[in-house]
Amino acid sequence: MPRIISPSFLSADFLHLGAAADSVNSSRAEWFHLDVMDGVFVPNISFGLPVVKALRRATDKILDVHLMIVQPERYVADFRAAGADYLTVHVEASTHLHRTIEAIHDAGMRAGIALNPGTPVCSMEEVAAMVDMVLIMSVDPGFGGQRFIASSLDKISRTKDLLLRKGSSALIQVDGGVNAENAAQLFAAGADVLVAGNAVFGAADSVAAIQQLIEA
Ligand code: DX5
Ligand code: ZN
Repeated sequence: MPRIISPSFLSADFLHLGAAADSVNSSRAEWFHLDVMDGVFVPNISFGLPVVKALRRATDKILDVHLMIVQPERYVADFRAAGADYLTVHVEASTHLHRTIEAIHDAGMRAGIALNPGTPVCSMEEVAAMVDMVLIMSVDPGFGGQRFIASSLDKISRTKDLLLRKGSSALIQVDGGVNAENAAQLFAAGADVLVAGNAVFGAADSVAAIQQLIEA
């Protein structure tokens, strides 16, 4: 299975985003994780389209955009234009999820769906076969640097079972409280992509921290 690391730029120094991008570019991380928050779906406000657009100019790596916004379907075309490769929406935030996934595909992106810690795995049953990625939130979204919720480990395994049952080859991404101590367990449970904010940008050497996660 692939071991993809997607560093979350929410934990980067916003005054030096270019340097943060350079450092991830020079690392073994294959993706950039960009957390867009609207202050409604989650209590925090982060950044939006201009920042995604700027980071698009700074890398050839995959731009993995995680929308924590209500009615994400309103912005599908805009995030495509800004350069997103993967666009992930929350199942709790999009009433017509099936249509939203189709819209993401029609715009030329890969579609991800995210589940909050309180949202059951079965809530994605009907769309599992059509998505490219399932994002299991292992913290309640809104902030970096929170503690990993232990029950997420079993949820990853159950997600993997559901995807197998549906014949889906969607990637499983885990986001929140990921670090060098739990990364091995997460990969073993079925995770393909680990998002890491504090574990990467809070480290003295981000490139080495990424390497540690891959080799966990
Ligand atoms: C949380 C965001 C995460 C966050 C992860 O709402 O979706 O991507 O930046 O940060 P860490 O790895 O520090 O928990
Ligand atoms: Zn995220």
